[in-house]
Amino acid sequence: MSTPTSGGTDERVSATGKRVGRAAREWATAQARAEAEAARGNALPSPGTPIIEVTDLGKSYGRVIALRGVTTSVRAGEVTCVLGDNGAGKSTFIKILAGAHRHSEGTFEVDGVEQHLDSPRDALTLGIATVYQDLAVVPLMPVWRNFFLGSEPVRGRGPLRRLDREFMKRTTRDELLKMGIDLRDVDQPIGTLSGGERQCVAIARAVYFGARVLILDEPTAALGVKQSGVVLKYIAKARERGLGVVFITHNPHHAYPVGDRFMLLRRGRSIGDYAKSEITLDELTSMMAGGAELESLAHELARDMGDSSPVVAELKADVEGDHEADREADHVADAEPDVESP
Ligand SMILES: Nc1ncnc2c1ncn2[C@@H]1O[C@H](COP(=O)(O)OP(=O)(O)O)[C@@H](O)[C@H]1O
Ligand SMILES: [Mg+2]
Repeated sequence: MSTPTSGGTDERVSATGKRVGRAAREWATAQARAEAEAARGNALPSPGTPIIEVTDLGKSYGRVIALRGVTTSVRAGEVTCVLGDNGAGKSTFIKILAGAHRHSEGTFEVDGVEQHLDSPRDALTLGIATVYQDLAVVPLMPVWRNFFLGSEPVRGRGPLRRLDREFMKRTTRDELLKMGIDLRDVDQPIGTLSGGERQCVAIARAVYFGARVLILDEPTAALGVKQSGVVLKYIAKARERGLGVVFITHNPHHAYPVGDRFMLLRRGRSIGDYAKSEITLDELTSMMAGGAELESLAHELARDMGDSSPVVAELKADVEGDHEADREADHVADAEPDVESP
């Protein structure tokens, strides 16, 4: 695999740093090149048009059912939020959309055509781009180099052939501005940006290279209040520009202000898919808290009414049932190797 040609700043690192840097760079470069090539030529449909529609989608890993009964849509110019606690199946769901895993049940349609994606490249070809939490960036390289990583435009021919640095710097600055980020110095290493800003560069980049659907896996999970606000702003920007956004989070307070649609997962099952007009923030919050609430309610009632009350018994059975399902899933998950079975 070839790496971008330049006497760039990234060469000035320690021996160990250089090795690590090169591996990271090669990986990020390959990913970036695939994205850029694949997404070329995708046009955005008019706002409100469904780009992705899934019906009764499900996924099993061997005997473990990681996801079942998921029905929702991603529309141009709208944000679909996927909410759920740890282990709810959020990552499994987006890996299907992103082409990393094949679904084992239900249907997955893009632009009304049923799809079985075999690789992330297939997803990119359809204009579906994913920004993972561990962003594929090279921290020591300037922001503009990261923006164009793997798709660097060149000028001149033969021995005069070289990277068009001016174009890349200008475009990076302009594209970030379009997303509302005013970065004075695109020459600074991307590693010096905050987590929120790096997410934003990744979003701007995906938009520039032709994404129609942007999948963001918990972009605010590791961020403080202020930085989260910054990322939410860019999510809103991407929507304004007509993209369909899939925003994964476990925080209803992050989801509600920017979301148009909310799909809730609990223990691998969909517990609802609502348009914003169908659900309030309070309802969303209490649905998210549902599992924990049930448990404390059972304890409270047992104290007040005694263990023998039929209401208490029923609640306890519900909670117990949930735990049982957990233990079973954990047990099977332990026994099964962590492999893909289509
Ligand atoms: N590759 C895998 N092999 C086996 N089980 C898995 C695999 N990936 C996820 N699971 C199981 O699927 C369930 C959902 O996980 P995941 O989609 O990662 O949830 P979330 O992202 O919401 O935390 C969990 O019970 C998890 O243990
Ligand atoms: Mg996850």
